[in-house]
Amino acid sequence: MKDNDRWYKRTTVTSALPYANGPIHIGHLAGVYLPADIYVRYLRSKGEDVIYIGGSDEHGVPITIKARNEGVTPQQIVDKYHEMIKKAFADFGISFDVYSRTSAPIHHETAAEFFKTLYDKGEFIEKTSLQYYDEENKVFLADRYITGTCPHCGYEKAYGDQCENCGTSLSPTELIKPKSALSGAIPIKKETKHWYLPLDKYQGWLREWIIEGHKADWKPNVYGQCKSWIDLGLKPRAVTRDLDWGVKVPLEEAEGKVLYVWFDAPIGYISATKEWAKEKGKDWKPYWKDKDTRLIHFIGKDNIVFHCIMFPSMLKQEGSYIVPDNVPAFEFMNLENDKISTSRNWAVWLHVYLEEFPGKQDVLRYVLTTNAPETKDNDFTWRDFQARNNNELLAILGNFVNRTLVLTQKYFDGKVPEPGAFTDNDQRVLHEIKQFPEKIGNALDNFRFREALTEMMNLARLGNKYLTDSEPWKLIKTDEASVKTILNISLQICANLTILAEPFLPFSSIKLAKMLDIPVHKWNDAGRTDLLVPGHQLNKPSFLFEKIEDDVIEKQVQKLLETKQENEAKEETISPAKENIAFDDWIKMDVRIGTILEAEKVAKTKKLLKLVVDTGIDKRTVVSGIAEQYQPEDIIGKQVCILVNLASRKLKGIESQGMILMAEDKDGRLSFISPDDVFSNGSEVR
Ligand code: MF3
Ligand code: ZN
Repeated sequence: MKDNDRWYKRTTVTSALPYANGPIHIGHLAGVYLPADIYVRYLRSKGEDVIYIGGSDEHGVPITIKARNEGVTPQQIVDKYHEMIKKAFADFGISFDVYSRTSAPIHHETAAEFFKTLYDKGEFIEKTSLQYYDEENKVFLADRYITGTCPHCGYEKAYGDQCENCGTSLSPTELIKPKSALSGAIPIKKETKHWYLPLDKYQGWLREWIIEGHKADWKPNVYGQCKSWIDLGLKPRAVTRDLDWGVKVPLEEAEGKVLYVWFDAPIGYISATKEWAKEKGKDWKPYWKDKDTRLIHFIGKDNIVFHCIMFPSMLKQEGSYIVPDNVPAFEFMNLENDKISTSRNWAVWLHVYLEEFPGKQDVLRYVLTTNAPETKDNDFTWRDFQARNNNELLAILGNFVNRTLVLTQKYFDGKVPEPGAFTDNDQRVLHEIKQFPEKIGNALDNFRFREALTEMMNLARLGNKYLTDSEPWKLIKTDEASVKTILNISLQICANLTILAEPFLPFSSIKLAKMLDIPVHKWNDAGRTDLLVPGHQLNKPSFLFEKIEDDVIEKQVQKLLETKQENEAKEETISPAKENIAFDDWIKMDVRIGTILEAEKVAKTKKLLKLVVDTGIDKRTVVSGIAEQYQPEDIIGKQVCILVNLASRKLKGIESQGMILMAEDKDGRLSFISPDDVFSNGSEVR
């Protein structure tokens, strides 16, 4: 087999291992798993030797943070979500040959061994250095345990290992204004020893391999990002962490340390292949070590650096592995013009979709593929979902198939009619049918999934138009022979559609094949116009797709609207907690109960009142910005909380000695903080 002038024997396809810390949503499907699945189904249909590897990424800080927040163990988290994710993939027809997990023993062995091999070769740099440490929680802060401002783009919520805004890989010490993600505290620095992969050393090789070798065949977004990182200059990356969740570093001196999740997770592709091979009685090695194997990683754009720079460097230095041929990375799918977000519940979850649209997996597969974020971020909207179902799947594909099958039932008792002499138009249609496998295949070979799907639909369009133009329902009265020809050709198109739609719409393909009572043939049979032999008895037709009504869509739109309102309400009323302060800082504040003795407006101001307060310690003057809501005469005699050790400052020429504590709600309403009962002045508030 040949690809970009390169002969190959087999293909290993991987799709990013999702973190097992939450369910899967449409963004995951659109950007990684659907394109990978379509591609793999296509190669299988062509009879190629291909394996599709997947699994859950069960280590790393996202998992431990989730466990901590929910008060359960990391193992409980990954067990729950691994099962949930695995089921969602199966439900949507994502056809992994194996779906493994990185907590599996085979993975721990494989990853540890990989590390040991590099260690024994002397590939790592060993370094003891000062690392950020959260004193309160007694943990070193790496990766997602630490956040701060990205030094490259200024994004304020960059993580310790990566900025999700510009994609750059970072280390905690590069962050500006670092903060513990656990406590919000500003971390201290503490000594610890780690092992580093010297990416700087591989820079020359990376440059040659990617910049010189893959300019033409990698997607511009992938190539461009790699080039800019390499041009920027690579630095050694720590591949070990001070954590207790992960693959233990296989060195005696590394007690209490685990492999960095981005070191172990991609090795998960290899471990999963081993698992598959063992189950199937095959050899895993050719899929990773034979130079005639193509390795292809499907990922989202935030994973580019790890799959194009770090993992290939590891594979290359290990020495016995191949490196990826291509890394088709997708951009992001938005939802109704807003970034998909788990924390804001702004997502369409696959398991929820399936409850609300049972049996409609292919509709979602279709909509997400026509809108696939191939070259730029794209948007999923429920209106578009409805329109694509009703105006495309139903009106074109469904309608064509249904008309063909119903007419065949009606005129010929559901038996495939014998074609007669072909008219010019028949000849033209027959000729066109033959072009589709190549057109679709070409697009798929180049990871242009939207184009491929459009071409597949064009075949249905061709059939639809052919039927409409030739009007067999009129001809039947005068020219039965022509009707036989027309329906024969239309049925051959249906048979072709079972093959050519299969990668995209596997459920509908099978359904259609059942109606035709034929197996789904292989790709090489597509284009043939004798897939159904005259006399063959068809099954009774049923509908491939159903109309989706307005009220169904309205319900979904309404649901999102409610989510939006809830989020807005949350954002408005409650500002996030400020950074933590030490207890020592808190006790520095001296707050007392005092009584307002005098109150008068400060001349020429709208907001200020000049108060005299008995603090129990003394009687002092305080200027307070409450005049818009309180009249002087109403507050004389009122007991309040007063901060008595605030440095005094001058306001409108008056020396203000302290501060009255007030609560303020989201509408700016003010309230004194007063004791329940009369209290002696000078009582301490703490
Ligand atoms: N869990 C990672 C993410 O969701 C992807 C890991 S891909 C692998 O971003 F190669 F490391 F497995
Ligand atoms: Zn950035």
